[in-house]
Parts: sequence; C-alpha cells; structure tokens
Amino acid sequence: MREIKSDYGQILVGNKQELFQQALDLGLKARAQTERSRFLWALTGGGTPKEWYQWLVSGQKITPTEAAAIEWTVSDERHVLLSSLDSNFGNAERQFLAPLEVPTDRRHPWMVAWPVAEAAEAYRRTLMILAGPGRAYDMCFLGMGDDCHTASLFPGTPLLINDGGLPFGGQEVPGKGWRLTITPTGLRQCGLIVVMTLGAGKADALHRVMRGPYEPTNVPSQILKTCADRVVWLVDEAAAAKL
Ligand code: 6PG
Repeated sequence: MREIKSDYGQILVGNKQELFQQALDLGLKARAQTERSRFLWALTGGGTPKEWYQWLVSGQKITPTEAAAIEWTVSDERHVLLSSLDSNFGNAERQFLAPLEVPTDRRHPWMVAWPVAEAAEAYRRTLMILAGPGRAYDMCFLGMGDDCHTASLFPGTPLLINDGGLPFGGQEVPGKGWRLTITPTGLRQCGLIVVMTLGAGKADALHRVMRGPYEPTNVPSQILKTCADRVVWLVDEAAAAKL
C-alpha cells in the first residue's frame, strides 16, 4: 500500500483485499494496545461494510473469541426497526455479529423504537456508561458518500453547524428520513477513525474533500480535519485517481 499525507488524516491506497485486512488490523491492534477495560468499535452503513462483513465471515478473518471481546455499535443509524434491511445495526447483526455468535450483551444498537430525540439521548447515556464521560468510540468506522457526507452528516445538515457540544444527535435529512448519528463533537471524542471509501464513483468526492476549499457544512467529511491526527483513510486506486 502507498501512503499520501493530507490535512484530513493519513491516506492509505491499496487494493480491496489489502484495505479490508488493514481495516481489521487497525481495529485489532488498537484493541490490543488499549488499557481501557472495554473496547468500543462502531461499524457503519452503506455497501462497503456489507462487503467487508462477508469477507470477514466467509474468510474467517476474525475469530469468535476476538469478536466477543469487543463492544459493537454503529456510528449512524436510520430510524427504522433493526429488522429492516435499511438498518445499519440490523445489517451488522445479520451479516457479521450473529454469524460469529457475538454475545448479545456486546451488541449496542441505537434505541430506534423511541422518537429520534429520545433515542439519541438514550444512546448518549448508554455510551457514557460504556465509554466514559467525554469519550465516544475507541474505533469509529465511516464511509463517504459521493456528496461527501459521512455517517449521517449530510451537506447543509444543522448538526454540522451546531451540535450543542453533544456527541450524538438525531435529525430529519430531507429525502432520506430520520437519522441518528455521531456528531462533529463525537468524532473528536473517538480514539481512532477509519474511513473506507472505494471505487471510481468516489474519486470526485475524495478530491473535493482533500484538495477543495475548506467548507465542512457543504463538504461534511472535511470535519475530520479537526481530528486528523487520529484519522486513517482506506481508499483504492480508483477512488484515489484524482488526488
Ligand atoms: C449510511 C452511512 C453512510 C455511508 C456512505 C458510504 O448509513 O449509509 O453511514 O455515511 O457510509 O453513504 O456508503 P458506501 O459504503 O455505500 O460507499
């Protein structure tokens, strides 16, 4: 893999197999090095994690014992039941946590049965117990959309302008329904952030983030500049083509 330095974190460019392995290794290494009693790993939504889950499970890349030693959640969620195919945590359970028989007390979904504001508050309280005050995830996985959104922080979203100093929030995203998401404050409280984005369809977005003017309210992934020393981007050659 080759490395590109940026104001938004370290960029590692490689093929999909290398990137999938690197994503796993970064998490397991951080877990091995932590002195904290719990290690909290947030997965994310979109197509990339689904492929990664399949790679992990079918290739037996992580053992049930390793997986059971981690507290699993997702960095953003749609306000739908876990049984919905649109649920990020539901998909993580069906494709990754359940096949590996991760104990249910290591699984921490958002409280989607509650109205969004209450669900975000309940999740914040749970995370306060799991991670401790002023901390979010030890490992936060993210993807990036072709409009440069990350987690459920979309261009123009009010949480990008003011998240009230809270690490998690909920909001209606026009055309995309109600979303629960880590906020800019939450991202700054994470131990390590890994953004995996693949394919030629992401080349313009990645160029806009890395080389365009700094305007995080329109280019949400640029918010990662505020914690760049803890951010690793995993991108393939197609996505990196315009860097
Ligand atoms: C979601 C996300 C979202 C996703 C990106 C990238 O819930 O959809 O968390 O931010 O990570 O849209 O998705 P891909 O992996 O499909 O590129």
